[in-house]
Amino acid sequence: MHIHFRTGPMLINVLPFTSIAFQGAVPFGNTFVTEADDVVRYRREILVHAHKGFNPIMSIMLVNKTTPEIVEESFLAGARVLKWIPGGTSTNSKDGVSLLDMKKYYPVFAKAESLGMIVSVHWEAILNFASGKEIPMLYREEAAIQFFVQLATDFPGLKIVAEHITTKEMVKTVEILYGMGCNVAATITSHHPVLTYSDVCDADGNVINPLNYCLPIAKLDQDRLAIRKAMVSGKPYNFYGGDSAPHPIFWKSLKLLKGKSPRAGIFSAPVEIPQQLETFEKEGALDKFEDFHSVFGPQFYGIPLSQETLTVKKETWRVPYEYEGIPIFRGGEELSWQIA
Ligand code: NCD
Ligand code: ZN
Ligand code: ZN
Repeated sequence: MHIHFRTGPMLINVLPFTSIAFQGAVPFGNTFVTEADDVVRYRREILVHAHKGFNPIMSIMLVNKTTPEIVEESFLAGARVLKWIPGGTSTNSKDGVSLLDMKKYYPVFAKAESLGMIVSVHWEAILNFASGKEIPMLYREEAAIQFFVQLATDFPGLKIVAEHITTKEMVKTVEILYGMGCNVAATITSHHPVLTYSDVCDADGNVINPLNYCLPIAKLDQDRLAIRKAMVSGKPYNFYGGDSAPHPIFWKSLKLLKGKSPRAGIFSAPVEIPQQLETFEKEGALDKFEDFHSVFGPQFYGIPLSQETLTVKKETWRVPYEYEGIPIFRGGEELSWQIA
């Protein structure tokens, strides 16, 4: 329920191969899909390169110019999701609406609610709004929770997905809001259950392993454990959203970057399913995998369940380092499951 195919040559490289294991997906166009025409164009681009029968659930991005009219036109053009990456919090998000301006966009959220559109949010706050100081990456998701609670309680009928959740506080928040009758859910990636902050950064907060670097950044071990528990919980509000985010090797190589910051985003598509299976197996919960992976997401989105099946086998393989110049998450490591 959360993937990045990009556009142009990158899409041509990753889409056929990424879409093969999925009957459908929610591709996020980051900033380049913001209105109805973009939805039509991007959908066409995806369908040209995906396998036959692939069903993209289209989204538009909440940006400063977004109006209720744009939301409605985009819905009529096929968009089912309004994606909100608050300004500057992640890759290609500089035109995103600031959390502080959330209330100005209430007419937009009201329109989404009346259309039954899903609002998918990258919940991170970069600035401490009282002091104006930058919040360290480790605490940004937690700092955004107050905005999530406000939006969910002001719009109890609005379907809101907290995307790629990373903290025990966020796991708890989704559970509480759901318990209160809010229409909320969370997506969980395949990488956050296997990473902690020390796999990404040194003690001074410098990224030492760009391959493990995505936003929100992996947190502490207690958070990782909470995410794993949520993943295998069998609760319908926790479902899969892999956030596979390909970046060319230049942006992931400290050597080539010579001091420039690496780009956030993990290209996980080639390992997502084996990696999830490893987590479910280690948690003794393989019987919960199918609901998490293929059922709860489509149910929340209100789309038909896939009638296709995918065969996996327990057989060790070594993950290649790269695919068409895009470094692959866990490249060089062994995984114990594979797609047959
Ligand atoms: C994503 C990307 O590269 O587009 N990056 C990331 O670190 N997760 C954007 C996003 O989902 O925030
Ligand atoms: Zn995001
Ligand atoms: Zn993403």
